[in-house]
Amino acid sequence: MKIAVLTGAGVSAESGLGTFRDKDGLWTRYDLNEVATPEGFARNPALVHDFYNARRANCADATPNAAHMALAELATGPHEVTLITQNIDNLHTRAGSSDVIHMHGRLMRALCAACGARWDAPLVMSPHDHCPSCGATATRPDIVWFGEIPYDMDAISAAVATCDLFVAIGTSAEVYPAAGLVELAGGQTLEINLAPSARANAFDDHRFGPASEVVPAWVAELL
Ligand code: APR
Repeated sequence: MKIAVLTGAGVSAESGLGTFRDKDGLWTRYDLNEVATPEGFARNPALVHDFYNARRANCADATPNAAHMALAELATGPHEVTLITQNIDNLHTRAGSSDVIHMHGRLMRALCAACGARWDAPLVMSPHDHCPSCGATATRPDIVWFGEIPYDMDAISAAVATCDLFVAIGTSAEVYPAAGLVELAGGQTLEINLAPSARANAFDDHRFGPASEVVPAWVAELL
């Protein structure tokens, strides 16, 4: 089978990384307009860097959980797996997944808004950092903010449209275009989540429960 997997913050929740929209989620404590938009960054780059510096520190301290490990194992089996994540953490890669498509960017990478260069982000970024390529002080986390276009949409659309099975794991389906991918799916669709998401009705099948339990059980059935 060709399997396209889309993950969201729920897959990393049990690694101790907060989700965005659950009770105590990041967007209940921070104003996303201030910390996750190009306009917010233009107004107060130090505030935005502080926010992502804290996320980067949490990510460095976290370890992959059983759901990340199971998805890495899935790719070693007979199926052709495309792993797409909305997460900016690196836990899929650290669990052993290769070729992870980070549609919302990566915490551990930096981007120069002046020349487009990318490099490994230092643990702590600041508005005074210089781009190693052009020298401009226009460095930002390599994150896709609200109002920006997610990365690799052509590859993502192609993988989802041609798959036999599309699986969304740990995402509230509140943010587009990720939330609309289920409509594109060529084959069967499965939602794995703690509880029904905003788009639950669009899926053929559902499995509800913590990702660290449900994902390994599902992967074991497929291998
Ligand atoms: N196992 C499975 N699902 C879980 C778990 C868990 N242990 N814990 C939480 N969830 C589910 C929640 O029920 C919720 O549906 O994960 C989902 C998390 O939803 P969000 O916090 O909205 O995260 P996500 O869908 O990834 O957000 C999408 O929003 O702000 C942006 O760019 C950010 O990529 C992010 C995007």
